[in-house]
Amino acid sequence: MRHFLTLKDLSPAELSSLIDRAAELKKMQHAGEIYQPLKNKVLAMIFEKSSTRTRVSFESAMIQFGGGSIFLSPDDTQLGRGEPVEDSARVISSMVDAVMIRTFEHSKVETFARFSSVPVINALTDDYHPCQLLADMQTYKEHRGDIRGKTVVWIGDGNNMCHSYINAAQQFGFKLNIATPVGYEPSQAIVNGVDAEISLFHDPIIAATDADLVVTDVWASMGQEEEQRKREALFADFQVNAQTMSVAAQDALFMHCLPAHRGEEVTADVIDGKQSVVWDEAENRLHAQKALLEFLCAN
Ligand code: CP
Ligand code: NVA
Repeated sequence: MRHFLTLKDLSPAELSSLIDRAAELKKMQHAGEIYQPLKNKVLAMIFEKSSTRTRVSFESAMIQFGGGSIFLSPDDTQLGRGEPVEDSARVISSMVDAVMIRTFEHSKVETFARFSSVPVINALTDDYHPCQLLADMQTYKEHRGDIRGKTVVWIGDGNNMCHSYINAAQQFGFKLNIATPVGYEPSQAIVNGVDAEISLFHDPIIAATDADLVVTDVWASMGQEEEQRKREALFADFQVNAQTMSVAAQDALFMHCLPAHRGEEVTADVIDGKQSVVWDEAENRLHAQKALLEFLCAN
């Protein structure tokens, strides 16, 4: 049995074939082909934070695959009233075929996985968002081919998405420049934990120079809402705008996991412009996670 808590849970070869499989599943879906490898299988979806893309993509994936899903919010479960994660993991996993969890502490998904009898998928924690990276890597490949050897620039907060980009730099073989304000760098332990070319900057223009892919995310993540004002001031120089895109490679792509705040971390002309692939990136959550569910759950 395998879990998907970070990108490091799959080998580079497994990740690469998963991305190719996602592209095949996308073609099948667009052709209207019925494919139901998870007939009668059930995915439990534990959400302790909000979601649009992750919920809709996992739920649609299970329906299209012939199975079903159960949406569990803290308001509805005993987990939300303090039932231990260990007990919840034993019970929930005894009744379903896979569990997807979006929560705060990364240790919670690790504990759940330890006591679960079925595969556990990290659907975002404070530390990582590996499912988003599957979609991002699929999107880069469909627009530009292999990302190996390319340069990616991450601009903004050294957050969960940034950490998953650090893992992806190792697993997919790209060079990663990270530009953050002082004090908002990614975890040094996560940077030290990969065998990849990672460079940290405090100047977004130097970091973005000649980059093949420009990526950003909100300045205040879920759980940091009260820091919004303070971060708006501190991150002002880290907006992705026309100037940022002008120093990147001429055919650079722009990605954002969404939801986006136009006029904050990215200008409308960039996110709604020609180099932006954010809508394909969002749609690919469905196809990439179908490939993941098939990998983890289909016999
Ligand atoms: N990108 C992403 O995970 O979006 P949601 O928060 O809407 O699921
Ligand atoms: N960094 C963001 C990603 C949202 C999909 C957050 O954690 O809120």
